[in-house]
Amino acid sequence: MLRQPLLVLARSERVKELVTRMPVSSGIVARYVAGESAAHAVAAARRLAEDGRNATLDFLGEDTLDEKQAEATVTAYLTLLEQLAEAGLARHAEVSVKLSAIGQALPEVGRKVSVENARRICRAARNAGTTVTLDMEDHTTTDETLATLHELRKDFPETGAVLQAYLHRTEADCRALAHEGSRVRLCKGAYREPEDVAFQDRHEVDKAYVRCLKVLMAGQGYPMVATHDPRMIRIAEALATRHGRTPGDHEYQMLYGIRTDEQKRLAAAGHTMRVYVPYGQEWYGYLMRRLAERPSNLTFFLRSLVSQK
Ligand code: FDA
Repeated sequence: MLRQPLLVLARSERVKELVTRMPVSSGIVARYVAGESAAHAVAAARRLAEDGRNATLDFLGEDTLDEKQAEATVTAYLTLLEQLAEAGLARHAEVSVKLSAIGQALPEVGRKVSVENARRICRAARNAGTTVTLDMEDHTTTDETLATLHELRKDFPETGAVLQAYLHRTEADCRALAHEGSRVRLCKGAYREPEDVAFQDRHEVDKAYVRCLKVLMAGQGYPMVATHDPRMIRIAEALATRHGRTPGDHEYQMLYGIRTDEQKRLAAAGHTMRVYVPYGQEWYGYLMRRLAERPSNLTFFLRSLVSQK
């Protein structure tokens, strides 16, 4: 109910100025974002590894129309991957990449630049001993992102993709990607999408999520079940058992700072659990999306703002 007003508020420059003046270490920011530097991200991956959780690290920033900015994002990933390898954490942490952050939206050259940049990150990930998963953005980019995945997989077949259950097309995409060697992260979907492409009703989205899970769990690939929803997790566990899956051939994923106790419980019960860890200076948009998903955090957030003054 509060989701739309909060997202409108998030676009206000004054609110943005006030919030970004908060140090990243302040309560509400630190709860969802690991910090601003690669060192912070590596430290978060280390803490997670200590209690058996894996990580996928995301350098925050999306939608760039500036080739230099795209290049800076690639450099940030290359630095991160080097530091992960040096810290001996590459077995526990991979990276998640948004193609719009590495040039996908650049006029005319977007496809070429983003594929080449993604290839550089995939190569560095392989050298470090880990993998890349391509995040999925709004529906206007789905075809392009899947085409890039296909291209990357020719040289880096370990590259993973995200599918969003709320899109009408996704059950078919799951079938197409449920093959051996394929890694698919299934999430509900985070963007505001029109009725002709996406289910609007949350029960319809949940039903679609279950249909997609059935396809992925019955298939030959490696399903990555990305949700905080206890019902979806129970259903995923039942489907995994039905299809004779073991913890090494599928995994659960949640966002940093959300349902941490459940993350630890799943890891302690022997499941493969991976936490999506965002870091970087561009944390504002990410933070506001997380708050909009869970308006009960609003009081905590407002209290943090007031205590800044
Ligand atoms: P939903 O928001 O419907 O919540 C269902 C239930 O989960 C709630 O009723 C509650 O029980 C529990 N829950 C949810 N949030 C909670 C909280 N903060 N505290 C306690 N309980 C909570 N999206 C996208 O479009 N592209 C992408 O690439 C990705 N990538 C991605 C990676 C990973 C690892 C995750 C976990 C998610 C994404 N997403 C994403 C985001 C995703 O699409 C979605 O917006 C959020 O995960 C929220 O959806 P849920 O499945 O958690 O259920």
